[in-house]
Amino acid sequence: MGKLQDKVAVITGGASGIGAATARLFVSEGAKVVLVDLNEEKGMAFETELKTLNNEALFIKANITSEDEVVNIFKQTIEVFGKVDIVFNNAGIGRVQPSHELEYSEWRNTVNVDLDGVFLVARESIREMLKTGGGTIVNTASMYGLVGSPGSAAYNAAKGGVVNLTRSLALEYAEKNIRVNALCPGFIDTPIIPEESKQVLAAATPMKRLGQAEEMAKGVLFLASDDSSFMTGNTLTVDGGYTAQ
Ligand SMILES: NC(=O)c1ccc[n+]([C@@H]2O[C@H](COP(=O)([O-])OP(=O)(O)OC[C@H]3O[C@@H](n4cnc5c(N)ncnc54)[C@H](O)[C@@H]3O)[C@@H](O)[C@H]2O)c1
Repeated sequence: MGKLQDKVAVITGGASGIGAATARLFVSEGAKVVLVDLNEEKGMAFETELKTLNNEALFIKANITSEDEVVNIFKQTIEVFGKVDIVFNNAGIGRVQPSHELEYSEWRNTVNVDLDGVFLVARESIREMLKTGGGTIVNTASMYGLVGSPGSAAYNAAKGGVVNLTRSLALEYAEKNIRVNALCPGFIDTPIIPEESKQVLAAATPMKRLGQAEEMAKGVLFLASDDSSFMTGNTLTVDGGYTAQ
């Protein structure tokens, strides 16, 4: 029996990086996974890969900034699998630019995906979980939701928002058996980090390397499963020591 046997897990940003590694681990623990992503090509290919492991998987192309599309993610999930137990609310984008050069439209776009989209997915998750008696939500924030850094004000503001959104939702639904926690990754080797930045970011990390998506997935499994059954409103920082500095 896996830790997530027969659980239904929705994973946004599930076609790549941390979301994809988490989908693989969840499937190996017995979960049925719904992959949500903007990237249809990668999402469809990954759905096929997961299905060959003899597990049930479903890819849904959706943009988490669209209220209608987010509502549809949950409608389709219920139609196919009947329930939602776990939501890994993980899709996001990065933005590195000096703040005095940042166009308002770019600020809005970053906050729209990294905070507003996370709220929409969390709200629809909670609506479904209230019907079935509970569930767990794991939001992907960032170590940059906990500390500042030059050149990514919009991203950092949005991720800081995700950390406190997590606490607020956790308190609001604690008595409804819905746990809400956040993962705060450090610099992780995924496509979101430009190739030319990898060496510098590894050097800035006390452990002198980037984290691997699989190392994030283990943290997500902990937060999503009963292993963290008395934990809500919390952040799990997995950053190779960065925020200890
Ligand atoms: N890699 C890191 O160093 C790092 C560090 C801290 C936090 N994070 C966070 O981890 C999460 C996952 O990132 P990753 O590193 O796996 O990067 P990634 O680029 O590999 O994966 C992100 C996925 O989200 C999808 N996506 C983006 N916008 C979307 C939208 N509007 N609707 C639906 N899907 C959308 C992308 O298509 C992509 O497949 C993000 O929230 C990111 O901010 C990453």
